[in-house]
Amino acid sequence: MTIGISDLAFATAHRVLDLQQLADHQGIDVGKYYIGIGQSEMSIPAADEDIVTMGAQAAAQILARHGADGIRTLLFATESGIDQSKSAGVFVHGLLGMGAHCRVVELKQACYSATAALQFALGIVARDASEKVLVIASDVARYALDTSGEPTQGAAAVAFLVTADPALLEVEPVTGVHTDDIHDFWRPNYLSTALVDGKYSLAAYLGALEAAWGEYQARGGVAFDEIARFCYHQPFTKMAVKAHDRLCRIVGSDLDRDQRRAQIDASLELNRRTGNSYTASIYVGLLSLLERDPDELAGRRIGFFSYGSGSVSEFFTGIVQPGYRDLLRTAADAASLDDRRPIDYPRYRALHESVDAVQGSDYETAAETSGPFRFAGVVDHVRRYQRRD
Ligand code: HMG
Repeated sequence: MTIGISDLAFATAHRVLDLQQLADHQGIDVGKYYIGIGQSEMSIPAADEDIVTMGAQAAAQILARHGADGIRTLLFATESGIDQSKSAGVFVHGLLGMGAHCRVVELKQACYSATAALQFALGIVARDASEKVLVIASDVARYALDTSGEPTQGAAAVAFLVTADPALLEVEPVTGVHTDDIHDFWRPNYLSTALVDGKYSLAAYLGALEAAWGEYQARGGVAFDEIARFCYHQPFTKMAVKAHDRLCRIVGSDLDRDQRRAQIDASLELNRRTGNSYTASIYVGLLSLLERDPDELAGRRIGFFSYGSGSVSEFFTGIVQPGYRDLLRTAADAASLDDRRPIDYPRYRALHESVDAVQGSDYETAAETSGPFRFAGVVDHVRRYQRRD
């Protein structure tokens, strides 16, 4: 029996800030963003959007195709949780009208937790092949205004279904993992924006890649040359370029620059436009790769490096399944990026500041978005969501 991902769906927020707007405000050359960090835009949630509305929008596409029957576990991975106790997944479970016989839990470890969810899901299906696990990864990446992290904000969600005999990607059993108790990026409970030691975080990411790859090899992983494409956690797309160059150096690869780029370029396209989506980012990268790579990928192996600050990381691989193209929603995913409403710098700044302004009090949000789910506001400290049918 093989186990892996049978379907993968994407959602993002309904507002977008072109990084030209940010560069103009800062009085700098936008080349630093478009080229230097490899980001062109960032998705910004409207006042009536959050990780629940994005996660529900991604998961609804999975349920529309497969139904909810047999899904007895919903794992919600996020580091921008909306409650300290209740899982964001329970809100989504309710919005989607899923059956009561389902375990729902939220997982956190910075950008890594969706990969933890995937590994836990594989274990559940290995024990009982009739089980299906719905994984949702949804995040809003927020840094303080006027900080170096600001251009790497973003928002997106993915949902994927983990089953036996997967239709999209078989996940192979060998992995390399690495944990290191560091402070490269973190968010104390009293802050709505992350703290980061930017340059250190880059070094920590690359060090973790080397360590996870080393364990992957020690545990009998395949050689570098047996992997056709690579998919990295993408806090900004240039990070994946740096990581792949580093891995090529570690293994002594003689691939030239264009050959190295051909192994990752398609995986960068969606993230370049969403910005960092923390836990979702690597799986947005997978979707981008499957949708945008010009070559037929069926039967070919993808290497994944998942990194979550703090830090926990994992290297693993998967085999793309025959017929995978039939499962993609390429046009709809492109439309969800193209259809975002552009906002200018003052509107972006107002949205950013509004998150902190309303904490602790009752409020209603204006109906700004027209998506299937919206965050309606807070009454008696309870978050209210609405579904539009
Ligand atoms: P910075 O220090 O302001 O930027 O912020 P810089 O001066 O390093 O410039 C960036 C790049 O732009 C450089 O290229 C410049 O040369 C280039 P590089 O040398 O790196 O190749 N550049 C230009 N290129 C073209 N035209 C120009 C131009 N000007 C400059 N005109 C930094 C960079 C990444 C530190 C900042 O964005 C930041 O703090 N980001 C947040 C932290 C982050 O994303 N870390 C990544 C690793 S940690 C991680 O991935 C985990 C995370 O996702 C969280 C989680 O796990 O939950 C963050």
